[in-house]
Amino acid sequence: MSVKTTWLITGTSRGIGLEFVRQLAASPQNLVIASCRNPDTASDLKAIVSEAKGTVHVVPLDVSDLESVKGVEKYVKEIIGEEPLDYLLNNAAINPGEEGAFEISPEIFTKTINTNVLGPVKLTETLLPYLERSRRPVVMNMSTGLASIGIDLGPKCAVYSASKTTLNMITYKQAKAKPEIIFFAVDPGWVKTEMGGEGAFLEPDFSVSHLLKLLRSITVEQSGQFFRYDGSTLPW
Ligand SMILES: NC(=O)c1ccc[n+]([C@@H]2O[C@H](COP(=O)([O-])OP(=O)(O)OC[C@H]3O[C@@H](n4cnc5c(N)ncnc54)[C@H](OP(=O)(O)O)[C@@H]3O)[C@@H](O)[C@H]2O)c1
Repeated sequence: MSVKTTWLITGTSRGIGLEFVRQLAASPQNLVIASCRNPDTASDLKAIVSEAKGTVHVVPLDVSDLESVKGVEKYVKEIIGEEPLDYLLNNAAINPGEEGAFEISPEIFTKTINTNVLGPVKLTETLLPYLERSRRPVVMNMSTGLASIGIDLGPKCAVYSASKTTLNMITYKQAKAKPEIIFFAVDPGWVKTEMGGEGAFLEPDFSVSHLLKLLRSITVEQSGQFFRYDGSTLPW
């Protein structure tokens, strides 16, 4: 067990999260805890598990539900026991759509913040003891270019953008509070998934292979920063 590199990824039923599992499952070196809301209906994920060369455990996790977030520790303990967690990838998120800066629905705002910010933040807290056992713990908080005020992308997707800007700030704070853990926020690029849509530029395998390079090469000195998938830094 201890020779394997351990990963926990959220939102692995489809899209970028599923592609992370696909690439990591190709190596016997990896032990992947692939979490998703509904393991029973995650057919693409099940197909990857059945052909995995690495070890993949599928566990239920709804990041918008704090009981579910807390409850995942039980599965992690069953799977890795007293071993470390090397990588936590906070990938799951929702984008409620094209809403602008006015007439924001309180329900949508709350749901988006709960899913995109509070879920990953509390999951990281829950798994801190496992991360702290790793010789090189890394926490990736999946962000977006829309979170950047510096890039200046206009009024679209106000709620989604604000949720990811909040996650960016928390990433910075986490890095300052725990300098022995590497935390970073990252924009995966515009990726062809359900969220990215048909017009997106990048295939999931391209984005994820770059993100894996970044995950494996990032240093503690770079902790707390905001990157593009290719490792270049982005303005806040
Ligand atoms: N695609 C892009 O162009 C793009 C650009 C910038 C940033 N991103 C970011 O990249 C990440 C992945 O996006 P994607 O493009 O792969 O999106 P996607 O295709 O919509 O997939 C989203 C994933 O998150 C899961 N999810 C949603 N709500 C959840 C919850 N409450 N609990 C657990 N899982 C939940 C979904 O599971 P279900 O199947 O159960 O719904 C699905 O597996 C997100 O953080 C997104 O903000 C994507």
